[in-house]
Amino acid sequence: MAKDNKIAIYPGSFDPLTNGHIDIIKRASMLFDKLIIAVASNSTKNSLFTIDNRVQIINESLSDNDSIRVDSFEGLLSDYARKNNIFTIIRGLRTLSDFEYEFQMAIMNRSLNSSIETIFLMTDEKYSHISSSFIKEIYKLNGDVSRFVPSPVIYQLNKIKNEKNNK
Ligand code: PNS
Repeated sequence: MAKDNKIAIYPGSFDPLTNGHIDIIKRASMLFDKLIIAVASNSTKNSLFTIDNRVQIINESLSDNDSIRVDSFEGLLSDYARKNNIFTIIRGLRTLSDFEYEFQMAIMNRSLNSSIETIFLMTDEKYSHISSSFIKEIYKLNGDVSRFVPSPVIYQLNKIKNEKNNK
């Protein structure tokens, strides 16, 4: 794909950011001139981190790169895309089972905003088993997640644990 001032949004809950997300961010930033990482703030999932924390973690986990910006949004992704005049959405695929949900979401987003195209990028297979939900579960059951997430996530997880212990 030619890089011709192309902008894309990489949306997600990022609760928390994983090494798999970082892999997708790196791949997308090679293809696009500008990448907006958009943290969805109305996720129905049981959240571990606040939106501000998630944005902070993403910023801290990425090396300085002027072509990447981290933002958060409320409401529909299709509306966020329209407001910002961006029509390309990036989503990562780990396994075939991701595809069904992602396919439906891509079609729904295009029904809501006909200018939107979703581009799927495949994660490196070494990250195909990593999901934010697993990270949350392993962390809550006192397992070691340090191989699966960047160090700012570990720092924030330890902070949460220390705050709980000091109560
Ligand atoms: O990381 P996730 O949880 O798989 O990301 C899902 C996300 C946040 C991209 C999706 O739930 C979303 O876009 N939410 C915003 C609300 C919205 O537009 N919903 C309709 C999707 S068809």
